[in-house]
Amino acid sequence: MEMLEEKLQKVYSKYDIEGTFEGYTLCTSGHINDTYHVRFALGNNKHKEYIFQRINHHVFKDPAGIMSNIRKITQHWQSAKIKPGCDIVNFLDSKDGDNYVVLDGEYWRVSPFIENSISYETVENPELLSNAGYAFGQFQYVLSDFPAHLLKETIPDFHNTKKRMDDFFNIVALDPIGRVKEVEREIKFIEKYLDIAVKLVEMQDRGEIPLRVVHNDTKYNNILIDKDNNKPLCIIDLDTVMPGLSMYDFGDAIRFAANRAVEDETDLSKIGLAIENFEAFASGFISASKDFLTKKELDNMALGAVVITIEQASRFLADYINGDKYYRINRQSHNLDRARCQIKLAEDMILNYDVMRNTIDRLMAYV
Ligand SMILES: Nc1ncnc2c1ncn2[C@@H]1O[C@H](COP(=O)(O)OP(=O)(O)O)[C@@H](O)[C@H]1O
Ligand SMILES: [Mg+2]
Repeated sequence: MEMLEEKLQKVYSKYDIEGTFEGYTLCTSGHINDTYHVRFALGNNKHKEYIFQRINHHVFKDPAGIMSNIRKITQHWQSAKIKPGCDIVNFLDSKDGDNYVVLDGEYWRVSPFIENSISYETVENPELLSNAGYAFGQFQYVLSDFPAHLLKETIPDFHNTKKRMDDFFNIVALDPIGRVKEVEREIKFIEKYLDIAVKLVEMQDRGEIPLRVVHNDTKYNNILIDKDNNKPLCIIDLDTVMPGLSMYDFGDAIRFAANRAVEDETDLSKIGLAIENFEAFASGFISASKDFLTKKELDNMALGAVVITIEQASRFLADYINGDKYYRINRQSHNLDRARCQIKLAEDMILNYDVMRNTIDRLMAYV
């Protein structure tokens, strides 16, 4: 088998990169792509560092479509009149002029290494949460005048909850490995909240809320933060950037940021909505976005959190019923545990729906 170093050398031979290859380390914080931190010597004890990334083409079926979307939004970002506080990751052009190269059927891309930065897996610090919210709000702001329909839907029906619900009930009807009898309570939950789950898609179908450029993976580990002052430096992981609804970015961030426990916690009493985290993230997001989002969008941000959480519950549960084909598991009940966490979180969000709504209203008036 070819050594990784040889592979990296093949990649950089396709780029005009200054200096001599010195070495690389594997970045362990991402979960999808293979990411390497690569160092080049420039002489006089100077160095230049890059990130080399192999796109996971098992997860992403259309890497060229992804890179074309990224190219479009990057061009818009660089020429935007609005100058945001933080940047988005910039992939270098190869000698062929594309923002990626294909080697032996693998898709590779190169970006400058962002110095002095850190990406956190979890965050409790309210200032950091608010900064993360602000960065993702600005992402939408800067791209708010980009025609979202020009982007390719690289993962079709990603947040089409109507379709997701159909898929869910189809797998329940099929019951391929006889697990349905174990999860009747959980299935009842999805049935009960079906109407809520499809609300945003229905509003979109009626033309009540606009299609926007959506990041679709708004976890903090996708923001590089300045180690010294906690300020967001760069939004990364643009693989799921697609046309969508602004509430998806807000909702998914809340699902992740405002859960009191980890995504596969087995002690359900620990799960719940951390309203203080909700408020911290929302304060940043709303202050960056309240001037361009429509009232209808802002009024439905809290609903976005509920919808995305129910959707995720249905996806984990569907995968459990289907025999764990999609999400990687490390115990037999892993997907069921994950589904139960999302259900508990969604129930807590529904209980606290008015609190979330009032918090957003208050933030809209004051931030
Ligand atoms: N330009 C960059 N500068 C510094 N670190 C980076 C850069 N791009 C990615 N990383 C690091 O690599 C990790 C994985 O990158 P990411 O694009 O998020 O891939 P994945 O899709 O696998 O999550 C990030 O969490 C971050 O720590
Ligand atoms: Mg990532």
